[in-house]
Amino acid sequence: MKEQWMAVDEFISATLVPSDLAFSSALEASTAAALPPIQISPPLGKFLFLMASICQAKRILEIGTLGGYSTIWLGRALPIDGRLTSLEVDPKHAAVAQGNIARANLANKVDVLIGRALDTLPQLASNGKGPFDLIFIDADKSNYPEYFDWSLRLSRKGTVIVADNVIRGGRVIDEASDDADSQGIRRFVEMVGTNRRVAATAIQTVGSKGYDGFAIALVL
Ligand SMILES: C[S@@+](CC[C@H](N)C(=O)[O-])C[C@H]1O[C@@H](n2cnc3c(N)ncnc32)[C@H](O)[C@@H]1O
Repeated sequence: MKEQWMAVDEFISATLVPSDLAFSSALEASTAAALPPIQISPPLGKFLFLMASICQAKRILEIGTLGGYSTIWLGRALPIDGRLTSLEVDPKHAAVAQGNIARANLANKVDVLIGRALDTLPQLASNGKGPFDLIFIDADKSNYPEYFDWSLRLSRKGTVIVADNVIRGGRVIDEASDDADSQGIRRFVEMVGTNRRVAATAIQTVGSKGYDGFAIALVL
């Protein structure tokens, strides 16, 4: 089955999501620097680009930069005066991302802030950086509930919040799981579901990244 998911993802990528030098060199530089290959898939990257374009996002927040692959997708949807802030705890990941972002000609629109997101998010708030038009959550899963909380504080009516990896091969429904990441994801989904400030859903996906999915929420 997995071979078929991968083959279909390759077909979708080849027909609808053609790569280019910025993406291929970003992935090559990330591999050369031994970053883990845990960036979003090309079809999900294009989805983020489309979401940011549809909501005409001018201010984007990303939690979890890695080598900047998703950052480039999101950054490409920005207008000339748009800004993207991406939060990354690992200085090595951030350095690779900054090189990739510069090669993608996005350095003038993107800031990568180094530090634990739970430290840099309050700094953004106290520096008056919100509200953001689109927020992409893709860092450590155990803190997703806290990231959702901060996302709401940095939002306005109409902000779109996308969170990746919320299915985790189905482990999201395992109430007894002792895996902190699965617990974090489950708490996140439950929190989103009971929060009256958002309308939300989650979509299961299969593809080159296996069986997973993303959640999307609109701030009301
Ligand atoms: C799944 S990767 C992000 C992938 C990236 N969004 C992409 O698709 O190209 C998660 C990243 O979050 C970072 N991260 C983990 N814990 C973090 C934390 N507490 N604060 C900020 N970043 C964190 C990791 O170092 C890693 O680079």
